[in-house]
Amino acid sequence: MINFKEIVGQKIAETAELPLEEIINYIEIPPNADMGDYAFPCFKLAKVLRKAPQIIASELKEKMELDDKIEKIDIVGGYLNFYINKKLLTKNVLEEIEKNNEMYGSNNSGSGKKVIVEYSSPNIAKPFHIGHLRNTVIGASLYNIYKFLGYNVIGINHLGDYGTQFGKMVEGYKRWSNEYSFTTDAIQDCMDMYIRINNLCKEDEKVLDACRENFKKIEDGDPYCLEVWNKLKSLSLKEFEKIYNLLGIKFDSLNGEAFYSDKMDEVVEILEKSGALQNSQGAKIVNLEDKGLGICMIKKSNDSTTYATRDLAAILYRSRTYDFDKCLYVVASEQNLHFKQVFEVARFLGIPEKCLNGLEHLSYGMVRLSTGKMSTREGTVIKVEELFKEAFERVQKIIEEKNANLENKDEEIKKIALGAIVFNNISTAIVKDQVFDWNIALNFNGETGPYIQYIYVRTKSVLEKAGYIPNIEDVNFDLLQDKESQKVISILYNFEDTLMTIVEKNEPSILARYLIELSQAYSNFYNENKIIDKNKEIQDARLFLSKAVGIVLKTGCNLLGIQMPNKM
Ligand code: ARG
Repeated sequence: MINFKEIVGQKIAETAELPLEEIINYIEIPPNADMGDYAFPCFKLAKVLRKAPQIIASELKEKMELDDKIEKIDIVGGYLNFYINKKLLTKNVLEEIEKNNEMYGSNNSGSGKKVIVEYSSPNIAKPFHIGHLRNTVIGASLYNIYKFLGYNVIGINHLGDYGTQFGKMVEGYKRWSNEYSFTTDAIQDCMDMYIRINNLCKEDEKVLDACRENFKKIEDGDPYCLEVWNKLKSLSLKEFEKIYNLLGIKFDSLNGEAFYSDKMDEVVEILEKSGALQNSQGAKIVNLEDKGLGICMIKKSNDSTTYATRDLAAILYRSRTYDFDKCLYVVASEQNLHFKQVFEVARFLGIPEKCLNGLEHLSYGMVRLSTGKMSTREGTVIKVEELFKEAFERVQKIIEEKNANLENKDEEIKKIALGAIVFNNISTAIVKDQVFDWNIALNFNGETGPYIQYIYVRTKSVLEKAGYIPNIEDVNFDLLQDKESQKVISILYNFEDTLMTIVEKNEPSILARYLIELSQAYSNFYNENKIIDKNKEIQDARLFLSKAVGIVLKTGCNLLGIQMPNKM
């Protein structure tokens, strides 16, 4: 791909006799295409060159020569606006898409670097709720995008399969297991049991003590406690697998909290030796008050470990096993303090600086239905299965109205329903709360997954209508110089850059936004230009652009974890 930004940068750098690295970061994309393709704010150089921005602009322009890549340079205010050669751009973009097909936009920038993406991480014996769904699709999309850019990516599902809550489950099981079947809706049974025991714990401190004791027994390998725990775990995994399979999501490792049960002693030892560990009323803690982060509990007074200790053991293990460059935790913002504490304490583990710096909590906002917050304890969660079921039914209804004879109807409905849900979960910036509203998520004309799928299907159907796919050799790039075509071309050109920005910011919503913009630009192009045309040359050019858009929409959606229907 021709790197026009760099070419512009080089021109400025050579003329101003300054290093390229200094220049390139200042180059901007003007807010609208009439103002050129790239803009350079000359006031950035006012200090070094000791001249007014206006003067710098006119002197630079004077000295710079136009060539086959840069067609025109304008001065607006203190800005230099660059107009690149659109025919060259068009040719370059379409040839690259033709050559690379579904790999267009990929590169090897991440080669040699290891990234752990930890995502999903539901708690066993509890329903998979819509918060975990958001987490899962955000994590999976990051996983895909990092891979596409050449990183060595390890996807970890850090299952919540340990902790006092399992002491509670065991207590509930001990008391009432004969009242539940644990067959058709096993997780619901677990959940009912859990709510029941929780209520009992609230009433009776002794029951809570018994639960704590049970967890200690799990840690010590008590056969009964372990048996119950294993049963709950395999029941849960079976349920989670159904959801992962539906979404097409895989993990490289399912090492959850329990995996670290025999790896925590070492953490305590290291912390002890480092001098960070303090005794406090029989418990072992790291005091982080001076950092404003309170106290991080490492071992409770009854000698059992904590959630934080397991995360520290995981960091130690992962740094040794993977020697990672980044370890990204896609976890709800409710755990902000937890991760701040854990990352702070991790400094005492003696792991490489590189790994320490690579730890990052990608804190995502809550998911709400208009009915409000959800809590596992109160039993007001929205289960993902229910959400899927409703989505299928709603899409089915829409399809029955719009296109009742759709081929492979069930398959296509599934793709659309899941597309709507996945897109809705990714399209909001990670930190923001996300409200799930059916009418918004399923609007075929809104900023939704189904809208992108619909535009994709249109690129396909226009090629089908023509009955052939033109060869790139037959495309006259001069015929794609109108405003609408050029808008599409420039968005296509930015695909790789967009992906690079996403890994820099760990923000997949940027790709969601990109795909909406590409869809809207194609829709404008389609409305303004007759694609099936008497003039074969015009038709070839427009068909080819349609094909290119289809390829990029599909790649982009697949990276988000959305499958494309063939028809809608
Ligand atoms: N299981 C936890 C939950 O559902 C999330 C785990 C997050 N990951 C971690 N390394 N602590 O809330």
